[in-house]
Formats: sequence, C-alpha cells, structure tokens
Amino acid sequence: MNQQVEPFIEDAQQREAFAQVHVSRPHESAHLHVSGRATYTDDIPVVAGTLHAALGLSSKAHARLVSLGLDKVHATPGVVAVLTASDIPGTNDCGPIVHDDPVLADGLVQYVGQPMFIVVATSHETARRAARRAEVVYEELPAVLTAQQARAAEQYVIPPLKLARGDAAARLARAPHRAAGEMTLGGQEQFYLEGQIAYAVPKDDDGMHVWCSTQHPSEMQHLVAHVLGVASHNVLVECRRMGGGFGGKESQSGLFACCAALAAWKLLCPVKLRPDRDDDMTITGKRHDFHYTYEVGYGDDGAIDGVAVDMTSRCGFSADLSGPVMTRAVCHFDNAYWLKDVSIAGHCGKTNTQSNTAFRGFGGPQGAFAIEYIIDDIARTLGLDPLDVRRRNLYGKTDDNVTPYGQAIDDNVLHELIAELETTSGYRARRAAIRAFNANNDVLKKGIALTPVKFGIAFNVTHFNQAGALVHIYTDGSVLVNHGGTEMGQGLNTKVAQVVAHELGIDFARVRVSATDTSKVANTSATAASTGSDLNGKAAQDAARQLRERLAAFAASTWGDDGVSASDVRFAHDSVIVGGNAVPFGEVVAKAYLARVQLWSDGFYATPKLHWNQAALQGRPFHYYSYGAAVSEVVIDTLTGEMRVLRADALHDVGASLNPALDVGQVEGAFVQGMGWLTTEELWWNKDGRLMTHAPSTYKIPTVNDMPADFRVRLYENRNAEDSIHRSKAVGEPPLLLPFSVFFAIRDAVASVADYRVNPPLNGPATAEEILRSVRAVRAAAAPG
Ligand code: MTE
Ligand code: MOS
Repeated sequence: MNQQVEPFIEDAQQREAFAQVHVSRPHESAHLHVSGRATYTDDIPVVAGTLHAALGLSSKAHARLVSLGLDKVHATPGVVAVLTASDIPGTNDCGPIVHDDPVLADGLVQYVGQPMFIVVATSHETARRAARRAEVVYEELPAVLTAQQARAAEQYVIPPLKLARGDAAARLARAPHRAAGEMTLGGQEQFYLEGQIAYAVPKDDDGMHVWCSTQHPSEMQHLVAHVLGVASHNVLVECRRMGGGFGGKESQSGLFACCAALAAWKLLCPVKLRPDRDDDMTITGKRHDFHYTYEVGYGDDGAIDGVAVDMTSRCGFSADLSGPVMTRAVCHFDNAYWLKDVSIAGHCGKTNTQSNTAFRGFGGPQGAFAIEYIIDDIARTLGLDPLDVRRRNLYGKTDDNVTPYGQAIDDNVLHELIAELETTSGYRARRAAIRAFNANNDVLKKGIALTPVKFGIAFNVTHFNQAGALVHIYTDGSVLVNHGGTEMGQGLNTKVAQVVAHELGIDFARVRVSATDTSKVANTSATAASTGSDLNGKAAQDAARQLRERLAAFAASTWGDDGVSASDVRFAHDSVIVGGNAVPFGEVVAKAYLARVQLWSDGFYATPKLHWNQAALQGRPFHYYSYGAAVSEVVIDTLTGEMRVLRADALHDVGASLNPALDVGQVEGAFVQGMGWLTTEELWWNKDGRLMTHAPSTYKIPTVNDMPADFRVRLYENRNAEDSIHRSKAVGEPPLLLPFSVFFAIRDAVASVADYRVNPPLNGPATAEEILRSVRAVRAAAAPG
C-alpha cells in the first residue's frame, strides 16, 4: 500500500513492525452474533413490573379525528392504561429539524399508520390486540399520495432547492444534439432485521433511562426530554448495538423512544414498546422515491454541453430529514462528471404517506442515478459505448474539477480506478461476447454496464461533524473505550478498538468497547453519513494519545537512563519500550497508578476545513470523496421479465483501509442492498394510501439466491489525501451506488431486443414486470409503421 508514515506513532509502530490498523480482524461481536449471545434491546432482562405498549394506528390517509372511541380498548382485560396526545406533559413533537411531527395524532391524521394512541398492558400480545379495538370516527379529507401529485398541488415540506452554474438553458439550446426525458425511481424499506424498539425505565428523581435501538442516542435524549417536559440531564439513552439501522433509526427511532418514555413516566413503571414487522413498516418512513424530468444538450462525442434536471421526492406528511436528503441529492447529481452549465432543482413533495427518512446514501444515490440515466441515453442515441461517454465527461484535474456547489475535487482517482476495472473485468471482450450471444438468442438477452461512483464524505450540516470519546485504562492493563458512535453491524466498534490498541501498542484483545450512552459522551451526532469511524476513530485516538503521552513521561522517568525523554518511549507488542528495556504494558500501568498518573482521558475531534451555506448551496460540505466503480453482467428472460446477475466486479476506494475484511463486507452488503432497491424491492400503496407491501411476503429483499453468481469485490490501493484516521476513507454508504451497473446492464439487455436503436423506458425498480413492460415498449417503438 502506498503509505507515507505519519509522524511519531505510525513511524514508531512500523519500526517495531507492530500494527493494529490496516489489518483484517473479525467484528468484535462476531462470536456473539453467530451464537445468539449478542444482546439487542429486546434481549435485556426486564425489570419486575415491566408493562408492554402497542400503538393504535390511523386507517385513513388524511382525516379529521371526530372522535377517538377508546372504551373497548380500556375494557380489554390486561390493559393498564391508554394514552393520547393530551397525556403528553411536554411537547407533542418528535421532528428532528422542523417541529411538524406529532408523537400522537391530535385531531388530524395525515397517513395510514399514523399513531393516535398508546395502549399499555401486561403483555405484548394483549396490548396489540386491544389496540385494534378502538372505534374511531373520521371526517375524511382529500389525500395527496405521490410526488407528482404533490408537485402539481405545489405542496412541499420545505421550499424548493435550486443549484445552478453557468447557463444550462442557453448551452443546451445551441448543442448539436438535444434530448429530454422523464423517469421515476422507487423508494426502499430499510428492513433492518431487528425492528424498532425502546424500553424505558423510570429512575430516581424524575430520571428516565431508555434503552433504544437507535443510530442517534443524543437525539433520542432530546426528544424524550421535550416530550416529558424535563431537562436533558434527566434522560439517559443507551444502545449497545442495533441489528441494522441503514438510516431508518437515525430520526425515526424517536417515536418509539418517546412513546415508551411517556408511558413509563405516566405509570411510573418500566414500559417496553416493540412494534411487530407489519406495524413497523406501516408506521415508519423509507428511502424517498423520486420523479425526474431532464433536458440535455451534447456533442457528437457524447460530451455534455448543458443539462437541467428537476427532481421531486415523496417526503410523506412531515419534513423529518427530507430537506437534508434533497440537499445531498442535489449535491450528487454530478456524480463523477464535470457539468459546466448545469441547473438542478429539488422539490420536496408533502404527501399523505409515511414520513420518508434517511436510507444508506441519504439522497446521494437518487441524485446520481439521474445523470447516469442521462449518459446512458446519450450513449445509445449516438451508438457509442456508454463507458466511453462516461469517461469523456469525467471530472478532470484542473479547472474542470469544481463541483456545481463550489468544492474543488483534489483527490480524484476515477480515471485510474476505471482503467484498472475495465482491464480486470475484461469489459470490452465481454461486451463483444454479449453482442454475439444476443444475436443468436431470441428469448434470453444479456447486458453489461460499468458505472462509477464519487461520494462526498461529511455531514452537509457542518456542526454535526464532531465527536467525543473516553478511554479508561484499568490497573490490570485492560482498556475500556466509549465513544459517541453506535454499532449497527458495520464494525465501528471494531475499528475504534483497533485505533486505540494501535495507539497504545497493545493487543486488540485488551480493548473492549462499551455501549453508547448519553451520560458518558454528551452531544453526539447520529452515526450516519458514513462518518462513524472518521469521527469517533479520531476522537478515540485523541484520548489514547493523551494517555500514551502521560505513560511515556512516566516510563521515561521510571525506567529510562539519563537522557531518555518521553518522545523516545515507544509502545508496541503489548510493551512499553524505554531505551533497551521492554516493560510489559500491564506493569507500566500498575506502577503508573501507584504514582498517581491519571489513567483515563477524554478525546475530541472536529472535522477541519468544512463550511457550507445552505441558502446558496455553496461551500465545502465534504472533507473528501470516496470513489468506486463496478461492472455488472446480467441476463434477462424477455418472455417473463426474470433477471439474474451473472457476474459483478467492484473496485472500491476506502483509502488505506483500517480493516480490509470489514470494508469488503461493507462493499458487498451495500452492493446487494442497492441491487435490491433497483431490482426487486417495490413499495406499493393502494388508492386509499395504505401501504400493501408491509411484510417480507409482499416486499422482496434480496436473498442469498439473488447474489451475483460470480461476485468479485476488491479494494482499490489508495490512501486518503486528507488527514483522516490513518488515511482511511468512509465505506458505509458509497458502495450502495455500485449496483447502478446492474440497472444499466438490464437496460442494455432490454435495448438489444431492437438492436440498441431505442432507449428503453425503464423505471426503478427494474422488477420482472417492469422489465417485461420495457421490452414490449421497445419492441413497439421499433416496429415498422
Ligand atoms: N452496515 C450494517 N451492517 N448495518 C447498518 O445498519 N448502515 C449503513 C452503513 N453500513 C449499516 C451498515 C449506513 S446508512 C451508514 S450511514 C453507515 O453504515 C453508518 O456507519 P459508519 O458511519 O460507522 O460507517
Ligand atoms: Mo446512513 S443513511 O447516513 O444512516
């Protein structure tokens, strides 16, 4: 790996040939995950007297609540209490940014599935059954269900966003070729395997302890405090791990934390709230589906002259994170391409559906999808290989390296990365082989595509880019780390433990990471935007460095000969090396304690160089970019619409990986999850606004059978140009865009039915039905007369 050594510690550790980072290690909880001993919120042994809550949900998409008849609910044996909006002592709101998100509907319901009341009972089953016995009188109001309907009604959750550079309209009017189009891209259910859950236990003197499956414990703390009308210091939120979050537990765990805490507060009893899968899917928001229209002008070689895109998202009934999601979509429309004259509009449609929220990529995938679609159209119209058109439009190195939002791209590796992948995947030869196959087969048709990814790393909101950590060394030499990030399976705790072990020159087994807890590290940001290890790794390193410096000073004075200073002391192989002595780490710590050296420290990190003007959509929102590309080959059945991914090659940039095994796992997982979004996962609401795909029986996530038959994931050799934690790069979200290659390979296969003369009208997800529809449309368009 092309690694320059950082001053002092990396230098010292490398001289000692001791490294705890840049090495593969199993996930710190892998042995617990596979043996069923990993404690999730529902596994925590409950306190005596624990009651169980369930939510009563609206059956109308938009209606005034004329009366909420709860007598039968109350009368159900085992029911202890039924709570409504009027029971809330503080504020009836759990909106993370805009305060338009009632915990319990108050007089008005705005989507099918909106919680109206909480039933608290002696058992989970009783609470659920009783919740269905309410007699509600609604006065129905007109409901707006889709993004396009909201757009037509000009009904938005935040004002429209507009980012423009140059004069797209004038440039495209003068261009040799012009095209316009329209497409849609579906949403996606997070489908975390562990559903939403909160368990609230009242504590001494108006305290409230909430265990919650959440990516954002600090936000849960604030929301619970507001709902209860108490100060933040009364509320403690804890999360050891989640069985997946994928963005769905960034803000939307709030409803469950607030309802459990409200019930516990009112009854002075521990209360657990765990919706079943159908309720979870009916209540919570998903990835935003998008509707696009575009116009583009381009030259004979496929170089884009001017492009204008107009995007509308389905946000649901409240703002939630829809504004930031659209901001990221707008900032990722460029994806990997230099667009000199460009106009990007983003409209956040307010609809009577679940309030859509974060999902891996946070709008970035939706933005980048549009430009990839446009380039795919250009290439087919010109009869060029889409890879050549992509390459022609890539960001360059000098003046053609500035994004529409004003950030210069200084770390672009896409030219080299794509060239490497083109070779290792055998792209050109396989395309020729596919053309030959298609010429000889009428029913089965193959397709191939190579698509690139550029993804900005950091929260667009500058102040979220901060983190804290605590590191304790106990007198036996064992180390406990606590940081503000949350573990959702991505391996954050493993990476943070590696960083601390590396810094102290100790064995990984000495380090344990404890549950995220708002009483330990305060004012944390969500573990989101893929920044978990960037932020918390640096904060933990800062804490560990302070400890190392203290121990080095102590060791130099205790074991060093004359002239040995703290900066000569090295930490490696579980020992502290002072001059010619290697003193075991445990012995140094035990002696340091007796000498009254402070053996714990806090650490802090704030990402440098960031600034962002949200009104102007200009600045440097990202610390750096992560890159990648993938080639996918598919086969479709033109009679049934069925599709298989025959082979997928991904080459992804994670800088100097902290843990290659975990990073490959993240790339594989993101690829398959993104592939599911683009191919089989279809959300469908009926005409009354009821989500009909609310269980795995009707909502099809990928299984092991849907994996690419031949799947080759590699990490690109690189190191971060910015001073990130050990020059690594974030990995959580960017690879979710790699399976665009699957979607465009499908489109390539469909186009073959009319000899690549027609641009297939293919919307996402490319389900079997959609592929079949597209094949028919292409055949009809190509038919003579
Ligand atoms: N990986 C697993 N196994 N489970 C998850 O829930 N969430 C993804 C990604 N990878 C997720 C995951 C999302 S949406 C984000 S933002 C990042 O992990 C968050 O973690 P990180 O910042 O530590 O990468
Ligand atoms: Mo990830 S969508 O930023 O939680």
